[in-house]
Amino acid sequence: MPSEPDGPGGAPTLRAPAKVNLFLEVLGRRPDGYHAVETLMLAVSLCDDLEFRDDPAGAVRLTCTDPALGIGPDNLVVRAADLLRQRTGHQGGAAIRLVKRIPWAAGLAGGSSDAATTLAGLNRLWRLGLTRAALAALAAELGSDVPFFLSPPAAWCTGRGEIVSPLRPGKRLHLVLVSPRTGLSTPEVFRGVAVPDQPVSGDAIQSAFAAGDAEAVGRLLFNRLQEPAERLSPEVAEWRRHLTALDPAGCLMSGSGSSLFALGRDRADAVRMAAALRRRGPERSGPRVFLVRSCV
Ligand code: C5P
Repeated sequence: MPSEPDGPGGAPTLRAPAKVNLFLEVLGRRPDGYHAVETLMLAVSLCDDLEFRDDPAGAVRLTCTDPALGIGPDNLVVRAADLLRQRTGHQGGAAIRLVKRIPWAAGLAGGSSDAATTLAGLNRLWRLGLTRAALAALAAELGSDVPFFLSPPAAWCTGRGEIVSPLRPGKRLHLVLVSPRTGLSTPEVFRGVAVPDQPVSGDAIQSAFAAGDAEAVGRLLFNRLQEPAERLSPEVAEWRRHLTALDPAGCLMSGSGSSLFALGRDRADAVRMAAALRRRGPERSGPRVFLVRSCV
């Protein structure tokens, strides 16, 4: 997990990256209510920051730069801290400051990334000495996407998403993310999915990704959740058409949406597309546009 220079007063500050799914196939419904998936996840340079300080009073307190985000016991950062204390018996507290940049309910797993970073940050701050495997087991309890963020920058994820096999990108990828203002509910999108009789194979995109062939990765992008998401949100379908018109290497919705991304052939290609999207005018109620690169 990439760390930044310590924050004011020497508090360790960690970066929590967003992710995109370059491939997501649904293999079936499981008895536990989840769906079995195969997905290629990639961490990107759009990041939240988390700063951790000991709290002598022994409480876990979260503050956030975005007043719209709930900071109570349901926040995944607080849940991660509570889970660590509960499982290790650690009595100490922490003051955690979250600098929020990743849009939420957006298919970018910002909350999951914050949770994984909290596990790693507090393991360090509280000197708990938990191994990566122990942290990954706790991460899986917090959410299907959380373990991935302990093994960035890329992975092939199976099970309900929590079984993580790290991959090495052959080359840095450059993407433009578009996050519509309206988010989508993950359970609702999964409820609408039609499980295929013949799942699409992810072998070809894994090879193209390992070879660093952006053009081929673009051609092979796939997300089974895109169709149910477009039924729930016409905005997603509309943005897919806008992004396609920019002639990217490929474009796709990320995760369960509502964010989409266009993949550039190189950085200049991504810069060109981001500029074209930003020229669409003042975007007060429109989507947020981010020019990002894959993490290394
Ligand atoms: O694991 P997480 O808490 O992020 O999942 C949120 C919801 O998304 C689940 O309760 C489930 O409805 C749906 N989901 C699913 N299959 C997955 C992952 C999530 O059905 N593989």
